[in-house]
Amino acid sequence: MRKPIIAGNWKMNGTIASGSILIEAFNSVLQDMELSCDVVVCPPFTAIERAVALTRNTAIEVGAQTMDYHDAGAFTGEISPLMLTEVGVNYVIIGHSERREYYGETDETVNAKIKSAFHHNLNPIVCVGESLEQREAGHTIDWITSQLKGALADIPKEQVSQLIIAYEPIWAIGTGKTATAEQAEEVCKAIRDYIRSLYDDDAADAVRIQYGGSVKSENALEILGEPNIDGALVGGASLVVDEFIDIIKAAN
Ligand code: G3P
Repeated sequence: MRKPIIAGNWKMNGTIASGSILIEAFNSVLQDMELSCDVVVCPPFTAIERAVALTRNTAIEVGAQTMDYHDAGAFTGEISPLMLTEVGVNYVIIGHSERREYYGETDETVNAKIKSAFHHNLNPIVCVGESLEQREAGHTIDWITSQLKGALADIPKEQVSQLIIAYEPIWAIGTGKTATAEQAEEVCKAIRDYIRSLYDDDAADAVRIQYGGSVKSENALEILGEPNIDGALVGGASLVVDEFIDIIKAAN
């Protein structure tokens, strides 16, 4: 009932040229596939415009890795939602743990960005996740719940139903250490239950929840087979053609 969504977060990797080669390779495989999942690539800002041009009339959509929540103004170095929609972006990753750790994003800014994204018809992919210390101390679910509580303040039910939440345990990002399918499912189910408690069954059943953290072709099928996992937010493996394609196939 929920359409799976596979998104590639390229992070600060590649150039316009290398990104174009990657997208052209994805296009050549995907054009012959009957896709039953959404596919999104999130290149660095400089490569976005080319990515949008290369994915026009294809099954691939383009997202940004972050944005500011203001429309315009004296915010040196930032990119606004209006700038993203102008170039044809329709997804935006919000509150990735790297943004929270290195660039001071908080649950409050995540909340403001979600509101701004919806206001500008951008689909937010909102990241939450615990550190290794929090997991080992048994605080995972409490932590994720508190992140969501802050992120979702004053977000109406109709918008939550359209939200994509990415559960990315920090200890599994770029480490090659994937959460087991059971660990990922446990948290994704807890996220859905929390949405149910905050809103209702309709919102909980509609919200799409991705897992992210060292997803690769070899573990994608098992992770995506879990009932509360509706897709993957993929880092490193989204930069490797065969890997990303195999993950898409696993979701399909
Ligand atoms: O947003 C994707 C991410 O943080 C996971 O990265 O390289 O572990 O797949 P990676």
